[in-house]
Amino acid sequence: TRLWRGVIEEYRDRLPVSGTTPVVTLREGGTPLVPAPWLSEQTGCEVHLKVEGVNPTGSFKDRGMTLAISKAAEDGAEAVVCASTGNTSASMAAYAVRAGMRPVVLVPDGKVAGPKLAQAVVHGGVIASVDGNFDDCLRLARELSEEYAVALVNSVNPYRLAGQKTAAFEVADDLGDAPDVHVLPVGNAGNISAYWMGYSEYAADAVTTRRPAMWGFQAAGAAPLVHGVPVDAPETVASAIRIGNPASWELAISARDDSGGLIDAVTDEQILAAQQELSGREGLFVEPASAAGVAGLLHYARTGLLDRGRRIVVTVTGHGLKDVDTASSYYGEIRPYAIAADASAAAQALGLSR
Ligand code: F0G
Repeated sequence: TRLWRGVIEEYRDRLPVSGTTPVVTLREGGTPLVPAPWLSEQTGCEVHLKVEGVNPTGSFKDRGMTLAISKAAEDGAEAVVCASTGNTSASMAAYAVRAGMRPVVLVPDGKVAGPKLAQAVVHGGVIASVDGNFDDCLRLARELSEEYAVALVNSVNPYRLAGQKTAAFEVADDLGDAPDVHVLPVGNAGNISAYWMGYSEYAADAVTTRRPAMWGFQAAGAAPLVHGVPVDAPETVASAIRIGNPASWELAISARDDSGGLIDAVTDEQILAAQQELSGREGLFVEPASAAGVAGLLHYARTGLLDRGRRIVVTVTGHGLKDVDTASSYYGEIRPYAIAADASAAAQALGLSR
């Protein structure tokens, strides 16, 4: 087997880098496309999961960050800033320290899962807890980057989307063509836009014969693209996608319409149920936001809105260990059997037969 070199080296000819761009990489990407037998049975379709939680910092953000930080390094940036619901800040901090830059992180106060903040801390991030939501943080990050010596690496930075489009290349490379439908969660709307760019590029160059319908799912309490207007006070258990005014609004709407796809909402209950089914049936632990696509797919299948026999890829965007508290509270208190270190007592308590 060949060693995976990270998305910039793997797809260099399709990315805006030159021979002199310093490549800052943790060998992100090359993530597994895992067949999903239970979801396939439930939907009557051939379902695969693109498991992005195995990236170096545990989410898909690393794909865009390797490029954004490499380009910032090329420009001589000494500090970088982002607004984040958690994963972008974890990724930015990791790549920034590798490049010798100072990571400046703006997060909505009290609304980021602990492990994500811990990642930003261990990577030396300077963290500001903002009295406001993600949308306020993003406005602040833009203002800081305009007036101070700090480069903005949110997905309004075009290098982020360019890096993230490599996920679509990988899916098409693995399957031999684009799928019929690509499903994913939507928050700030960068990822759905990036996948669409990737699929469109491959189709335009005849690497693939077609482009998939893009199906995006937002949380019901944070579904501005579904309602067509920004949401002032977004709320959802899926804190990663608690966003009321997505930066890539127009790009996401184009991806939906040009692909003949849809953007719809799923409830927090549907999201948590899908997270539990992914863990309990497919063996994949993802964070709540990452289950929104699966929740949407199941909802469409169960209400008869999904044609059978289709080839479907669902991106699960971040690892379950990113937000253990939400999962634990949904499953109830963790209470293992307390037993003596004795085999027959253990077998009895654990219900094992001879
Ligand atoms: N899933 C996870 C786990 C995320 O962290 C995000 C976004 C999304 C889905 C939505 O992707 O924004 O491209 O539509 N997280 C950003 C962050 C906002 O700050 O980490 P999107």
